Amino acid sequence: MGKRIGILLSGRGSNFEAIAGNIRNGMLDAEIAVVISNREAAPGLATARALGLNAVCHPSKGIEREALDAQLVATLRQHDVDLVILAGYMRLLSPVFIRAFPQRILNIHPSLLPAFPGLDAQHQAFEYGAKISGCTVHFVDEQLDHGPIVRQAAVPVLAGDTAETLSARILAEEHKVYSEAIGIVLSGRYRIEGRRVLVEEN
Ligand code: GRF
Repeated sequence: MGKRIGILLSGRGSNFEAIAGNIRNGMLDAEIAVVISNREAAPGLATARALGLNAVCHPSKGIEREALDAQLVATLRQHDVDLVILAGYMRLLSPVFIRAFPQRILNIHPSLLPAFPGLDAQHQAFEYGAKISGCTVHFVDEQLDHGPIVRQAAVPVLAGDTAETLSARILAEEHKVYSEAIGIVLSGRYRIEGRRVLVEEN
């Protein structure tokens, strides 16, 4: 039986779907214990329900960050989650949350960090005139888009690109590298030295 992951999302949920697909096709040995959204209208939440997964909404509207995060932690604990996966979760996590899962939270960001942290990273890279961008899977620490990097993929910016075509090319890579990174972390075949995640090859 695979290790248990909890997924947090706020929107479309295409990364979540890719992870679910990779579990189904045997590429990733894991079990999705629960999918949590801070928005009832998130399409990813509907997908989770359609797939028959535990799907929970903790609305972020009108609640203090720490109180919301305490709800999230309780739900994740209730489902006995080994690893927390941020998949387009558009809220900053408070230290309360991050300390509840030390080095057990992953995020995916659509740029080659440390370039272009924050919102709209693909647009930032495009407008900056970068020739290469990509995506980064990293452990989550208390700073935005900052923790140790597990996996990155580079994506070229092509002459005819718009921010949208670039985003689509990056997203296709996101859908591969996130499952790879989750597999590495769940297998335990790595150690962290400073900021460096050293993966043991088998
Ligand atoms: C992705 O671009 C991801 O890198 C960023 O948020 C977006 C989520 O997309 N963190 P989706 O909801 O997984 O389709």
